[in-house]
Amino acid sequence: MGIFDALLTVPGLLLYATAAFAASCTLTASGGDDAPAFVQAYSACSTITIPQNTVLNISTPMNMTGGVNKHISLQGTVKFSPNIDYWSGHGYYFAFQDQITFWILGGENVRLDGGGVLDGVGQPWYDAFASNSSLLRPILLTIFQGRNVQIQDIMMLNGPEWINFVTDSSDVLYNNIHINASSTSKNLAKNTDGWDIYRSDNVTIQNSIINNGDDCVSFKPNSTNILVSNLNCNGSHGISVGSLGQYPGEYDIVANVTSINVRMANAENGARIKAFAGPDVGSGLVKNITFQNFTEANVDYPVVIDQCYMTAANACAAYPSNTYIEDIWFTGISGTSSGNEKSLVASLDCSPDSRCSNINVDNLDLAPPAKYGNATYGCQNVNITGDAASLFGTCTTT
Ligand SMILES: *[C@@H]1O[C@H](CO)[C@@H](O)[C@H](O)[C@H]1NC(C)=O
Ligand SMILES: *[C@@H]1O[C@H](CO)[C@@H](O)[C@H](O)[C@H]1NC(C)=O
Ligand SMILES: *[C@@H]1O[C@H](CO)[C@@H](O)[C@H](O)[C@H]1NC(C)=O
Ligand SMILES: *[C@@H]1O[C@H](CO)[C@@H](O)[C@H](O)[C@H]1NC(C)=O
Ligand SMILES: *[C@@H]1O[C@H](CO)[C@@H](O)[C@H](O)[C@H]1NC(C)=O
Ligand SMILES: *[C@@H]1O[C@H](CO)[C@@H](O)[C@H](O)[C@H]1NC(C)=O
Ligand SMILES: *[C@@H]1O[C@H](CO)[C@@H](O)[C@H](O)[C@H]1NC(C)=O
Ligand SMILES: *[C@@H]1O[C@H](CO)[C@@H](O)[C@H](O)[C@H]1NC(C)=O
Ligand SMILES: *[C@@H]1O[C@H](CO)[C@@H](O)[C@H](O)[C@H]1NC(C)=O
Ligand SMILES: *[C@@H]1O[C@H](CO)[C@@H](O)[C@H](O)[C@H]1NC(C)=O
Ligand SMILES: *[C@@H]1O[C@H](CO)[C@@H](O)[C@H](O)[C@H]1NC(C)=O
Ligand SMILES: *[C@@H]1O[C@H](CO)[C@@H](O)[C@H](O)[C@H]1NC(C)=O
Repeated sequence: MGIFDALLTVPGLLLYATAAFAASCTLTASGGDDAPAFVQAYSACSTITIPQNTVLNISTPMNMTGGVNKHISLQGTVKFSPNIDYWSGHGYYFAFQDQITFWILGGENVRLDGGGVLDGVGQPWYDAFASNSSLLRPILLTIFQGRNVQIQDIMMLNGPEWINFVTDSSDVLYNNIHINASSTSKNLAKNTDGWDIYRSDNVTIQNSIINNGDDCVSFKPNSTNILVSNLNCNGSHGISVGSLGQYPGEYDIVANVTSINVRMANAENGARIKAFAGPDVGSGLVKNITFQNFTEANVDYPVVIDQCYMTAANACAAYPSNTYIEDIWFTGISGTSSGNEKSLVASLDCSPDSRCSNINVDNLDLAPPAKYGNATYGCQNVNITGDAASLFGTCTTT
């Protein structure tokens, strides 16, 4: 072993002196805040190992952007200290939807794997948010300015808010991720989106289990060339495109998204596209989106297009959405709704003035709970094609 590939075990500060040439570093817990040592190891070492049974205590934000050829082997736990007053003023800030994060990870050829745990210690946050709805809560892990990033075999536990944010990145893969954000008190684990993708291209999310309290995966503005495959989502708000067109003056694109082989249970939505309308909104294009082979159980809205999202009907009629929706396929969506909407199992509601085109529904097999009788289907301002189009009948025009 030469000086360039020395295997170092570095408790806290020792690292600064010795790790400058190390290929492999092993982190141990210092007893205090381990964030500085972890960040330093990321910049100095090519492989950073957090061994099994090691619990790193992260009490200050971690900026790991710009690294090249980095491998974090997380076999133990990275735990974020729940100092609410501190974090709400110190997390890294993103203007998009007023977000902060514990940790920004980026750079080129970056791997995070190892079978370990990211623990957001969310319970105190869920409880604090219940009495302060403007509380800024950190995202568990943010991929920022990443290229060729792979995150595999990681458990993500109880993030205070969104679990994963992918922003300004490309060629990102998530594989075999287990997310569980659940509250043990009466205060729900709110806004714990599994993934939010923003201004990013070529992102794959596959083979994962998610139990959370908001979107399972959400494609925010400028998500392109995305594959979501083999997810088991429970308790979520569904797989969602949008919401888009929220910000005046901005143009939002979501294109080339395939979501396939998804199980969705106890959820608010199944497959969903939502865009704002009204006088003070932005514009955009949703194009070439496929939702295929969804098996749903106890879902409030199994299939949804809502192009008047958060907009009153009269405002939507006067100011139709400027986010156009084109080339959409809902294929092979089956299962049961919750009965929340009685017999209604699918609703495709577009703005007036032909803002939706080439909307296809095939092989639809959805049923409400037996007490609501046969399924019903809703639609407005849209021409539906595909073998299930006749189920929708004639759509209303507003
Ligand atoms: C984590 O580190 C912070 C800052 O040193 C300290 O206040 C806190 O008690 C530590 N938590 C644990 C669980 O060690
Ligand atoms: C993160 O660190 C990089 C340098 O490595 C710096 O350019 C960037 O401004 C830092 N980001 C934040 C949010 O502090
Ligand atoms: C609620 O959270 C916000 C943002 O984090 C903070 O500025 C404000 O002081 C908090 N309010 C209370 C009553 O704690
Ligand atoms: C997309 O990203 C994956 C890594 O997840 C990479 O292997 C692939 O080459 C990328 N595709 C394109 C077209 O760049
Ligand atoms: C999430 O955690 C709760 C509480 O520990 C547990 O009951 C539930 O089975 C877990 N769900 C998943 C999907 O891991
Ligand atoms: C699935 O979600 C429901 C509703 O939120 C919850 O009661 C149940 O514990 C979750 N199951 C698992 C395995 O996490
Ligand atoms: C999305 O991409 C388009 C085309 O590159 C650009 O004009 C627009 O400003 C981007 N929107 C956002 C929200 O980044
Ligand atoms: C969508 O995919 C097509 C075919 O690969 C490609 O030509 C087009 O550029 C992609 N659109 C975007 C916005 O990336
Ligand atoms: C539609 O998107 C898929 C990826 O989701 C891509 O493979 C396909 O080429 C795109 N089609 C067009 C016509 O852009
Ligand atoms: C549909 O998805 C389920 C997983 O949800 C998978 O087990 C099944 O093989 C898929 N069906 C097809 C035809 O690919
Ligand atoms: C439900 O659908 C079946 C088959 O199309 C039909 O025979 C039956 O009359 C319908 N029931 C009601 C209550 O409309
Ligand atoms: C439906 O198709 C007809 C015939 O092409 C067209 O005139 C009409 O505008 C379309 N309606 C909507 C809501 O797109």
